[in-house]
Amino acid sequence: MSTATQNAPAPREQWQSQMGFILAAVGSAIGLGNIWRFPGVAYTNGGGAFLIPYLVALLTAGVVYLLFDWALGHRYRGSAPAIFRRVHPKFEPLGWFQVGLCFLIITYYAVIVAWSVRYVGYSVNRAWGDDPAAFFTQDFLRLLPSSEAHLTAEVVPAITWPLVVVWLFVSLIMALGVAGGLERLNKIFLPLLIVMFAGMVLRAITLPGAVTGLNSFFTPDWAALADPHVWIQAYAQIFFSLSVMFGIMITYSSYLPRKANLGPTGLVVAFSNSSFEILAGIGVFSTLGFMASKQGIAISELEGITGPILSFVTFPQVISMMPGGPLFGVLFFGSLALAGVTSLVSLIQVVTAGVQEKFGMSVRRSSLFVGIIAALTSTFLYSTTNGLNMLDVVDNYVNNVGIVGSAIVTVFLITFVVRRLPELHHHINEHSARPVGAWWRIFAGYITPIMLTVMLVFALVDLVQNGYGDYPQWFTLAFGWGGLAFILAASLLLSALPWRTAVDHFLPARLEGMEHRPYAHHQDADDNGLAEETR
Ligand code: ALA
Repeated sequence: MSTATQNAPAPREQWQSQMGFILAAVGSAIGLGNIWRFPGVAYTNGGGAFLIPYLVALLTAGVVYLLFDWALGHRYRGSAPAIFRRVHPKFEPLGWFQVGLCFLIITYYAVIVAWSVRYVGYSVNRAWGDDPAAFFTQDFLRLLPSSEAHLTAEVVPAITWPLVVVWLFVSLIMALGVAGGLERLNKIFLPLLIVMFAGMVLRAITLPGAVTGLNSFFTPDWAALADPHVWIQAYAQIFFSLSVMFGIMITYSSYLPRKANLGPTGLVVAFSNSSFEILAGIGVFSTLGFMASKQGIAISELEGITGPILSFVTFPQVISMMPGGPLFGVLFFGSLALAGVTSLVSLIQVVTAGVQEKFGMSVRRSSLFVGIIAALTSTFLYSTTNGLNMLDVVDNYVNNVGIVGSAIVTVFLITFVVRRLPELHHHINEHSARPVGAWWRIFAGYITPIMLTVMLVFALVDLVQNGYGDYPQWFTLAFGWGGLAFILAASLLLSALPWRTAVDHFLPARLEGMEHRPYAHHQDADDNGLAEETR
């Protein structure tokens, strides 16, 4: 692609401090995935025994690919499309595909944040009355049954207005930039989240019956370890929860100053996220224990322990039963909203950074542009009477096929086609207080991708043989496969357009001040010439 129309790169935004970066990375990792996804996934996949595949996945994929993303972002300093283009000019679509995944996610993620905001209000007077299930699906969402899902643009105002508030708020944060918006937001919201969530968990574990819930959560079903699906779920959970391999951590680390401490910071972020996740499991299962003991039944007899139903039906039921329920509800839904917002902004940043750099747009303009398009998509797809159905399908295909598929392709290309794994390893060790051993390369390039490929094959066979849920086939084709096909096509198209900023004027080895060039794979950067500032 010609670089004739490229402008000199604007000075890159930066985190104000290493602590600001850590808070933002933890804020991104801790999200809806921790509070509403993890407890249900752990429970249905072996309870206590799930912690074993989960910890294995945390170490072999979570920590490993967090450092992989950070090495790419910190070394090549750009949005995901710019970074992959700098790695190899033909890899740009990979970066846009990650942008596309984030775009798909933000359009429904914001809706769940909006529901949470609304439920903070509903908790105060327990607006769901005696039947939280009917309230959620019929009164609030006005949801069409999944088997009758069809195309509709019938917007539900009760969802739309909190959604508009969420989009206005996050667009404002994005417009304030990395340090002024994202960093400041996380500095305020993350401590607030931790205090509120700790309050919720403390209340939960002191409820009568909490121990029964905890026993049920932690009692291992060892047989589950022989089931490959359990391992698949553990890896999928870690990817989504730690925000790795879909652009977020690449983008965030690209705003780090040159001097950074990647290795130990990676461990801090990964373990903070998992500790929060396990704490969420403890809080949720203590609460379920209380509910089961009130009803005189076993936890296994409770319905609705996963996904949206756990948060928006089962929790309201508990809130109605307990003394001090409204406060508990405010803490729970408030935590969900705060955790959601700090993750949502990290997802949006992947998209705005790509748009800024490709089209030479300012931070404000790109925030407005992305905010408007995403808010409209969000509203007309997910705040309709079909919203939850579409959201469920898109979420499943994005996570189990899109993220895993793009992770495998990325690792394959970096390891075997451009052979940059040693370079990334070297970069991590140049920027870590303690060196990371050769095990990192073995897992990043070989063992984990094999596990991921097995995972993907299982997921694909399952989807092709059984479809997904009880949705009509055309519906999963249109929104599941269709969504992925759409972002793939958009990635190829966007890659064919010229860059308005100096994407190619870059050479990592020289930026580092390293006179030597230990890895001879920077042909692309050399061939295109260097901007003055990188000499
Ligand atoms: N990591 C974010 C979550 O867990 C996306 O929800």
